Amino acid sequence: MQVTMTVNGVVASHDVEPRLLLVQYLREVLGLTGTNIGCDTSSCGACTVLVDGESVKSCTVLAVQAEGADVTSIEGLAAGDDLHPVQVAFREQHGLQCGYCTPGMVLAAVSLLAENPQPTEREVREGLEGNLCRCTGYHNIVKAVLSASGQSVAILDTVRPGSTTAPTLSGATTGATEVGS
Ligand code: FES
Ligand code: FES
Repeated sequence: MQVTMTVNGVVASHDVEPRLLLVQYLREVLGLTGTNIGCDTSSCGACTVLVDGESVKSCTVLAVQAEGADVTSIEGLAAGDDLHPVQVAFREQHGLQCGYCTPGMVLAAVSLLAENPQPTEREVREGLEGNLCRCTGYHNIVKAVLSASGQSVAILDTVRPGSTTAPTLSGATTGATEVGS
């Protein structure tokens, strides 16, 4: 089947197998290997891309279902040498270690902030719950997203004497098992 979509601002058109997944199209046909595959079963979010501005797990979508869509993968997020503000925040807040989850996590965060430009800590955690990270414990990822939204994250690194629970941003009610876990 013929499929045509815009990927990172460039029109792509190919004859593909109807069963080809969008993630396979990006990686194997277009060579955009920044989109990772972590599970192939819609669980991990490593394959997250933006489809018409919405975050989508690209292992759950057929390439032909993206017909006519505007797709952004991690390769298309920066403006030339200028990283996207969410990418800058992930770097500054050490929101990655091995980096495997990072392309999907960053794109999920971009979508989250487009819908909710000033999220609370809880809203960030809930918004990114479909994206798994095996390395960071999520704390610095949450900091990165909050930082990208223009909010101070200094309080998240302040632990009260005698407490095992890091304080949350104002209004957030995140429990001890979530913060710094
Ligand atoms: S590879 Fe798509 S959700 Fe894990
Ligand atoms: S940084 Fe390693 S999986 Fe998230």
